[in-house]
Amino acid sequence: MDRKQFIRTIGLGTGAIVFVTCVGGCSGSDSEDDPAPTTPGTTKLDFTFDVTSDANLVNNGWTIRNRVIIARSGNNYLAYQSNCTHQGNPLTYNAGDNNFPCSQQGPDHGSVFDANGVRIAGPASSNLKKYSTQINGNNLRVFEP
Ligand code: FES
Repeated sequence: MDRKQFIRTIGLGTGAIVFVTCVGGCSGSDSEDDPAPTTPGTTKLDFTFDVTSDANLVNNGWTIRNRVIIARSGNNYLAYQSNCTHQGNPLTYNAGDNNFPCSQQGPDHGSVFDANGVRIAGPASSNLKKYSTQINGNNLRVFEP
C-alpha cells in the first residue's frame, strides 16, 4: 500500500466513524418519545410540575406527561403508565367512574383499568405500572419509589 492509498483508507475510515457517531448521538430532541426524565444518577422516573399550569389537568382532571397519565381523584393524584398494556394505545381517565379506559374502545379492544391500575375489562393481560405522587403546594412530584 502506497502513501496516497493509505491516507485515502484512513480518511474513509475516519469519515465512517464520524458518520456512525453522529447518527447515534446527533438526533436528540425533546419529543414525547424521549425517555421520561429521571433523577441524575438513577434510572427511575422522577419529575415535578405545577398542577395549576397544566390546562388538561385543570380543565379535565387528567393529563399525560412523560408517558405517565396523571388524574386528580378528590384530593389525591393517581399516576400510571400512560399506554394500555394491550397494544399500547393511550389511556384516558373517566372521573365519573374513577377509572382509566383505553382510548381504543372498538372491537378487540376496550380495556379499562380501575383506580388501582388493575385491569377490570378488555383484552389487556396485565395491570398498569403505578407511580407515586406527592403534592407540595401546587407542585406535584411523580416518581418511582
Ligand atoms: S390497546 Fe388498549 S384495549 Fe387494545
